[in-house]
Amino acid sequence: MKKRTSARPLSANKHLLRWVEKMAELCRPQSVHWVDGSQEEYDDLCAQMVAAGTLIKLNEKLWPGCYYARSDATDVARVEDRTFICSYSKEGAGPTNNWVNPFEMRKKLRGLFNGCMAGRTMYVLPFSMGPIGSPMSQIGVQLTDSPYVVANMRIMARIGLPVYAEIDKAEKRVVPCMHTVGAPLGRGEKDVPWPCSKEKYIVHFPESREIWSYGSGYGGNALLGKKCFALRIASNMARDEGWMAEHMLIVGVEDPKGEKTYVAAAFPSACGKTNFAMLIPPPAFQRKGWKIWTVGDDIAWIKPDANGRLRAINPEAGFFGVAPGTSNKTNPNAMASLARNTIFTNVALTPEGGVWWEGMTDAPPPKLTDWQGKEWTPELAKQTGAKAAHPNARFTAPASQCPTIDPAWEDPAGVPLSAIVFGGRRATTMPLVYQAFNWSGGVYMGATMGSEMTAAAAGTVGKVRRDPMAMLPFCGYHMGDYFRHWITMQRKLSETPRVFHVNWFRKNAEGKFLWPGFSENMRVLKWIVDRTRGRALGKETPIGWVPRYEDIDWTGMKFPQENFDELQAFDRGLWRSEVMGHEELFLDLHDRLPKEMVYERELLICRM
Ligand code: OXD
Ligand code: MN
Repeated sequence: MKKRTSARPLSANKHLLRWVEKMAELCRPQSVHWVDGSQEEYDDLCAQMVAAGTLIKLNEKLWPGCYYARSDATDVARVEDRTFICSYSKEGAGPTNNWVNPFEMRKKLRGLFNGCMAGRTMYVLPFSMGPIGSPMSQIGVQLTDSPYVVANMRIMARIGLPVYAEIDKAEKRVVPCMHTVGAPLGRGEKDVPWPCSKEKYIVHFPESREIWSYGSGYGGNALLGKKCFALRIASNMARDEGWMAEHMLIVGVEDPKGEKTYVAAAFPSACGKTNFAMLIPPPAFQRKGWKIWTVGDDIAWIKPDANGRLRAINPEAGFFGVAPGTSNKTNPNAMASLARNTIFTNVALTPEGGVWWEGMTDAPPPKLTDWQGKEWTPELAKQTGAKAAHPNARFTAPASQCPTIDPAWEDPAGVPLSAIVFGGRRATTMPLVYQAFNWSGGVYMGATMGSEMTAAAAGTVGKVRRDPMAMLPFCGYHMGDYFRHWITMQRKLSETPRVFHVNWFRKNAEGKFLWPGFSENMRVLKWIVDRTRGRALGKETPIGWVPRYEDIDWTGMKFPQENFDELQAFDRGLWRSEVMGHEELFLDLHDRLPKEMVYERELLICRM
């Protein structure tokens, strides 16, 4: 097959050229390919991967433009224990991050990267996080020996020629991102479909704004624009430059008058962020003219504009979503987004050349090939419990294909932000919704948020893991300093966003969910929007403002007041132990914890 490589540099930037040369000397690839980002190049790369066995082209009639990949069984998720923040000092990384002395780490990486791309092509992949040319965007260049990464990054970020043009203007600092799957090929050695290494290092140097990733080809370990850049490195940039890089979805809520209110929301993994970002209001709300618009489902970069109003962009261009559980019932907008031009990884394959995963349909197809390439039938699965798709199987889909994508999702100025929502998975204690009294109360709310570990972890059910602002694995510096940054951000603002906490997962004494969730969450979102616009009343409680029964719009839903009261109940005993739990996290961070956090806790205790 004709292999189209573009060895000619596509940038005239001296620094970039020198760096690429130096890194090629270190990694010693067989060839260098400057990525132009064109459709032709993408088609070519995919064809090469099909020939190499890395990708399978799906049935063009059923899944137009879609491909399927199966990873190595040991390379299926982000590796938090192999993720490092190598700041100059250990204190800079803080107690919630893994730290290694940067000089030692550099020595280690030099050894690992030495000759690591032998027999492979090194791709020079320029990418913009955020719309090209937006003052809120940032640029990176990833050198990678994985064509799968190049193809996925083309969906997840803006890449190629327009980004070189930005680099050549040399107005912005470029973040260098080194990536290898860590599987050099000997002369004549046959490649495997998913090369990777047992040894993995996902390393960030915050001061020099560098990323070095070794050994994995999967998701956040390898698509370096996402978690590594847009959260860990960007959180450092944001602290230094007065903005915020957050693990948040962004939605626009359009009301019957056609006015839009933008809301950002942080939830830990497996709490339904993508579903909330693509929410479809219940029919009664649709008839009144309520509509939800999607700006982003995972990351928000937030910055005050010249008038002191917070504005937000989604730095990504695609969705890297968890497939299992996604269906036409739970999230029709996600299903429409992934219907074409999508790369599926570690889902199951149907005999017709389509894909399937647990939860996609009520009944599974009679016969599948599972994510490890083995035959799978529902009968077999009953005996062995084997899943057809890996629980962390993913779809990489262009955001532009989402039916509810907001017309302003690529606005270089971002969208104006009126409210921030925090949430977790909590069977008890946390009401359906409450509003913080003010900004520092809101920061406390985010800093202490937690999510219960699932039933899978025997003995720990109900144990709340603190995940401040859903940033525990993603904050690239000391969490105490991060809270301080949140506190000080408000001083730059002429308008402070209102801060809320939601919990879709409260259960009754019998263990049944009290709230149906999904579309019905619109009722809560309406109260949030109405509060930010001064249109809704609430009731003061020790923890914050809550809606009264009559403050929620129940049109089209039967939900008796006693159920609502149970859902919103404030239990003094449970809250006492909740606040004790906050102390645990604060003890770890004590030397850098802002005073406001301590006083907020004291105030909360006094009110209780
Ligand atoms: C993600 C994550 O993939 O948070 O978005 O792990
Ligand atoms: Mn995420």
